[in-house]
Amino acid sequence: MITKQQATDLLHAHTKNQNLRRHMYAVGFAMRALASKLGGDPDTWETLGLLHDADWEETKDTPDEHTKHSLSWLKDMGETEGPVVHALMSHNRKRTKLAELDGDMEWALETVDELTGFIVAVALVRPEKSLAAVTPEAVMKKWNQKAFAAAVERGQIAQCEEKLRIPLAEFIALTLTAMQAHHEEIGL
Ligand SMILES: [Fe+2]
Ligand SMILES: [Fe+2]
Repeated sequence: MITKQQATDLLHAHTKNQNLRRHMYAVGFAMRALASKLGGDPDTWETLGLLHDADWEETKDTPDEHTKHSLSWLKDMGETEGPVVHALMSHNRKRTKLAELDGDMEWALETVDELTGFIVAVALVRPEKSLAAVTPEAVMKKWNQKAFAAAVERGQIAQCEEKLRIPLAEFIALTLTAMQAHHEEIGL
């Protein structure tokens, strides 16, 4: 199965934008923490996080193609099945219809993807502009301000409660802690 290093190499080969790279690192770290919480394999879950938007730079104008490019790179490497391939097939399912969200790893990506972006937005409006200055309470306060980061789909994130059996406040705290532990890689 594809390794974390191979996923990182693919990501770097196809994503030049530093913020986009950092988005995938952040999701990878959060996925790793969620794997530990939910009994998944941390390396596999982090690998999925690192790969989930790896083809975004080249598919942003053709969103129906998002994830299909990544899947073709994996195929070229002999990766045609397994948990990462399946989960990647479900990531852009509304457009690709390749697979359903049918497991903890799939739902973890679905819910935490947007949350990492929301936490970055909270960090950026603070004077320190750093993750270290963010608390779970500060994230929750912004969460309740509907005009703040209005594009972030809060409903998608809140599905952590039903699909992952993790209360929202705990989900936020866990994700924030994982991101803070890797603030250098995330650049905040
Ligand atoms: Fe995506
Ligand atoms: Fe993403």
